[in-house]
Amino acid sequence: MIIKLDHIAMAVKDLESALKPYTEALGLTVSKMEEIQGQQVRIAYLPIGDTEIELVEPTTDDSGVAKFLEKRGEGLHHICLEVDDLKATLTRLKAQGVRLIDEEPHDGGKGKRIAFVHPRSMNGVLIELTEG
Ligand code: CO
Repeated sequence: MIIKLDHIAMAVKDLESALKPYTEALGLTVSKMEEIQGQQVRIAYLPIGDTEIELVEPTTDDSGVAKFLEKRGEGLHHICLEVDDLKATLTRLKAQGVRLIDEEPHDGGKGKRIAFVHPRSMNGVLIELTEG
């Protein structure tokens, strides 16, 4: 079962300069910044109510986000939905013929377990699933 929209992630080239419009113009506050080595990204978290915007900067030239920036430029990278049972959700999606990038949950940001669903099965939008 889907519980809520956990976050919306934007791919950016440079985190510090990308933060300016979100903090200075929109007035959002950065709650945390972290580097996730497994995904080769650095993330700034900007909470809004019980959801968040994440700005994601690649830390290597050959990471998934770096390739995304090369191909499509800066902008919306993925949306993340919180589910009650990540493993069960992946099994159900697979059974329904939905293409998964991750068939097994792995570590995402903030110590949460995550898995990605292929954008080809979701009308061009990369969907991340997380367990609360
Ligand atoms: Co995410």
